[in-house]
Amino acid sequence: MATGVSAPGRAQIKQKTLRTDRWWLAPLRIGVILAFFVVYATVRIFMNKYYWVDAYHYLTPLYSPCVTSSCVEGSSHLGTWFGDFPRVIPFSIITFVVLAGFRGTCYYYRKAGYRSLFFAPSACAVPEPHKKYTGERKFPLVALNLHRYFFYGALVFGLLNVYDGTQAFHGKDGGFGIGLGTLIIWINLVMLWMYTLSCHACRHIVGGRLKNFSKHPLRYRYWTFVSKLNPKHGTYAMISLFTVIITDAYIMSVSAGWFSDLRFIN
Ligand code: FES
Repeated sequence: MATGVSAPGRAQIKQKTLRTDRWWLAPLRIGVILAFFVVYATVRIFMNKYYWVDAYHYLTPLYSPCVTSSCVEGSSHLGTWFGDFPRVIPFSIITFVVLAGFRGTCYYYRKAGYRSLFFAPSACAVPEPHKKYTGERKFPLVALNLHRYFFYGALVFGLLNVYDGTQAFHGKDGGFGIGLGTLIIWINLVMLWMYTLSCHACRHIVGGRLKNFSKHPLRYRYWTFVSKLNPKHGTYAMISLFTVIITDAYIMSVSAGWFSDLRFIN
């Protein structure tokens, strides 16, 4: 039996959609941005170089933490946990799995992915091409339910990024220093934390499963804070995507010697 818009009882309309506005523009724009990010991140992760600027202790978030003995000297803040990786395995494989898992299962990116990549559906009042809908109960979509666990991982990586940020106040002569790279790293950190703390799973973890808030004043306070950020979660998701790319591209350029860091102090 036909399902979806073809199901019996539904009005049978010949046109694909009756919308006359440019409904396809938003999913197309988001799809192009997501595709660009996927290609950029894949290329960068397999590059296995230009992730560390020794003079100023800049480490790109895509390679943090760098914990194999293949990492360049100075970049392993947390020590080396593994020996040399074979060339085909990126040093940042753990970071990549956690961060890709966090973004890939994020409610905002799910909406973006369903609209822009799977056309399921592309927009309101635009029927989807799929004949069957099984929800997120089967592999691989059932894995989207792991989001809250990726959130815990993202918290740990967020703290590591803050540590990297403190290291970026490093001057050429070994003392205190600030450069354009330091500012870019910290702007990215703020956006990453806005994105992480505005997460829907975070809101549920801090304030969910309570019968009343009056007995949990601290959790109520956290929940109120997260609830203020939460409506802008999609905005933070997109801004932080760009700040990650800009931070990584800047550190790559300085590390490769394509241009020098603009220094304000030392
Ligand atoms: Fe987007 Fe959790 S819902 S990061």
